[in-house]
Amino acid sequence: MAVKRIGVLTAGGDAPGMNSCIRGVVRYGLNKKLEVIGILRGWYGLINEELKLLDHRAVSGIINLGGTILKTARCPEFRTEEGRERAFQTVKKNAIDALLVIGGDGSFRAAHEFYKKYNVPCIGIPASIDNDINGIDETIGADTAINTALLAIDNIRDTATSMERIFVVEVMGRNSGYVALQVALAGGCEDVIIPEREFNLENICHGIVEGNLRGKISWIIVAAEGAAKAEDIAKKITGMTSLETRAIVLGHIQRGGRPTAFSRTLALTLAQAAVDCLLNGKTDIAVGLKDSKIVEMDLEFAIKKKELKVDKFCNLIKVLT
Ligand code: F6P
Repeated sequence: MAVKRIGVLTAGGDAPGMNSCIRGVVRYGLNKKLEVIGILRGWYGLINEELKLLDHRAVSGIINLGGTILKTARCPEFRTEEGRERAFQTVKKNAIDALLVIGGDGSFRAAHEFYKKYNVPCIGIPASIDNDINGIDETIGADTAINTALLAIDNIRDTATSMERIFVVEVMGRNSGYVALQVALAGGCEDVIIPEREFNLENICHGIVEGNLRGKISWIIVAAEGAAKAEDIAKKITGMTSLETRAIVLGHIQRGGRPTAFSRTLALTLAQAAVDCLLNGKTDIAVGLKDSKIVEMDLEFAIKKKELKVDKFCNLIKVLT
């Protein structure tokens, strides 16, 4: 069946660059004579038929905006048969031939299940600050989130150095330590705590005390949210070292803001690749960037746990401290 009318949605946590991606899908899709329907609030909008025809002008002036003009949501209802059935009715009623799903692993899982049950062609475009999609180098938004967190760390360093304090900074990433590792290395942080590697707080404290004896007074330890709570770690450090320690949770700040050039160009090139995949009759796959090339992979593969190679990073962080 020739694809004429496509639906595009953003689902799960928003990521900077989603808007650039929507723009890419709409403008490239129109160029290929497709009609593009924006589905509002992710899967929720598909269930509740919240749709909007997107023309050229609808995506003007959004390339530089964080968030998503289509809105996004977590949608437990889509995990139910009833929810998916209602979503399918929306697809049928509105003659939507295929879906482009911009989101992370949860959104891809949902797209895969939807395709399996209703045979609606679905292509995933990876966008999440967590960078936890298997088989690719980086998701749309991760680079921006890392730079946002890095800016905060640079600011924290100013006060950490001036007041000779220890800081534990908690960053997002769900079960992945990717953001934490990048930020810790680029921010010249003294240690990093990530879910992929066991940590020993006694060793960290031992390092702090030893450093302290040498005259090194300020430390920044980055903690991935999936590994530890900054508040707990800070309290324990104070308990073990008697040194003043502050905890900071960067939280949702990392999800917002102007997408970096990399997040935008990645979004635009993946949007084009995804539309081409649909036009070529492909389905149940995700597009992504791997070793500087655009690749396609089964959604089932994309949602498998991504293995992070962490040792090289962790060792470098240690060596450079
Ligand atoms: O998946 C993106 C993400 O920002 C994770 O890093 C974080 O754990 C989660 O979403 C937070 O979700 P919510 O905004 O629903 O609290």
